[in-house]
Amino acid sequence: MAKKIGILTGGGDCPGLNPAIRGCVFMAHRLGYDCVGLRDGWKGLIEGTTMALPPAQVEDLISRGGTVLGTSRTNPYKKDGGVPRCLETFKKLNLEALVAMGGEDTLGVAHKLFKEHQVPVVGVPKTMDNDLSATDYTFGFDTSATIAVDAAERLKDTGRSHGRIMLLEVMGRHAGWVALFTGIASGADYLCIPERRVNVPQMVEKLKAAHQRKGYALVVASEAIDLPESGGIGEGGKKVDPFGHTILKERGVAEKLSELIEKQTGIETRSAVIGHIQRGGPPTLFDRMLSTRVGVKAAELVSQKKYGVMVALRGQEVLPVSLEEATAKLKTVSSEWLQLADVLCQC
Ligand code: F6P
Repeated sequence: MAKKIGILTGGGDCPGLNPAIRGCVFMAHRLGYDCVGLRDGWKGLIEGTTMALPPAQVEDLISRGGTVLGTSRTNPYKKDGGVPRCLETFKKLNLEALVAMGGEDTLGVAHKLFKEHQVPVVGVPKTMDNDLSATDYTFGFDTSATIAVDAAERLKDTGRSHGRIMLLEVMGRHAGWVALFTGIASGADYLCIPERRVNVPQMVEKLKAAHQRKGYALVVASEAIDLPESGGIGEGGKKVDPFGHTILKERGVAEKLSELIEKQTGIETRSAVIGHIQRGGPPTLFDRMLSTRVGVKAAELVSQKKYGVMVALRGQEVLPVSLEEATAKLKTVSSEWLQLADVLCQC
């Protein structure tokens, strides 16, 4: 009987998960393994809900957004008996190893299961937020930022026609990568990211000047920015997910910030929230290639019995790094990137 690899996808979905599953299954098959999918992230390992993953099942997944395995933000460490049940399922399914595809939360659980219970696990980094340490990029980010750039360009058209200031709010959680890349690539006039407190007087001045020069202005803002001057944005939403993260969409950044801008500039301002549109649809070329490569590499690492690691992109190479290093701290926007943004978006 062939040895078996379990695959799960946890946390927010993002374009690239399906090609990563496909890459892992194809390589596993070549190396003599069968693959089985666990449904809806860690929930599938707790409950033992599975999906067969023969190569024929994944053949057409290269261009499909989302994840065929389903996903959830289930945290086994926050569920009664969650961890023992994960261990039981692993044994019952007779798994050789587990490939966990996810961001800081999913991989944090993978790391704990490896460290505390020696579960043979390989992590695959995915997240549109691009906030995982130890890897140059996570798949999902390129597609999300590309979609946001398209949205920003559309907002510029309507802003130009009406002589308005337009504001686009993007996701990305507590790292400003999506906002930063979107802002630079769409030629935004002001960028608001969580790594830097918004300087309201400076922003107002820049937007008024841009509007005077071009007849419109564009602001790109991250969902997680802090803006206490506006009276409340900084307080955030009250609801948290099973990993303790604030549900950021509740904060209403776009609305509050655009009201503030309109009031202080005296220029008509409109805002748009792209939200989950950023997470759907076919992956870009970059994400198809990256996700396929890290999926393939994960199966290779299982065959070499290299566990407790995550597949990272370093330069042109995909290689294993310890899950410990990968999940130790969030990768936020560095001062070099902020300097570049200062030149290009005057943030
Ligand atoms: O972590 C990915 C992400 O899209 C964040 O950018 C965002 O804050 C969050 O997930 C939204 O989560 P949900 O899909 O649970 O609303």
